[in-house]
Amino acid sequence: MKITIGCDHGGRRLKDAIVTHLNTRGAQVSDIGTYSDASVDFPSYAEEVANQVNSGEADLGILCCGTGIGMSIAANKVAGIRAAVVSDCFSAQATREHNDSNILCLGERVVGEGLALRIVDTWLDATFGGERHARRLQMITAIELKNES
Ligand code: RB5
Repeated sequence: MKITIGCDHGGRRLKDAIVTHLNTRGAQVSDIGTYSDASVDFPSYAEEVANQVNSGEADLGILCCGTGIGMSIAANKVAGIRAAVVSDCFSAQATREHNDSNILCLGERVVGEGLALRIVDTWLDATFGGERHARRLQMITAIELKNES
């Protein structure tokens, strides 16, 4: 499985910890940065990760910032992206099973590293439930198509 991961300065330490963790899981990881504490604009990283997921270049994406919220708002502007901000394991599982989320957003200022790594594992190990959830995803796509400019 290929996972693309990005962050801003507010999520850089958490991103680095997740990259190390994903490598131990044997995932193929593409780390698009940022790589330092210098202040950067999170929408650029969100857009690049979202584009890689939407194009199929990556199977799934992970984005880290201070809260995870800015990243999710930006990533969800890209067609086909279902980015979920998660800070507990129940939601991590539910958002894969029900929403087929394809990008996980985490806030370094919200969750500790240990919990974040469990959330990542829970999210990666869960699978989409299909059936009634698939109908709802089609409805979300229809909203996207209606609002195309
Ligand atoms: C950066 O200070 C911070 O605004 C960013 O990491 C993120 O939390 C935005 O949603």
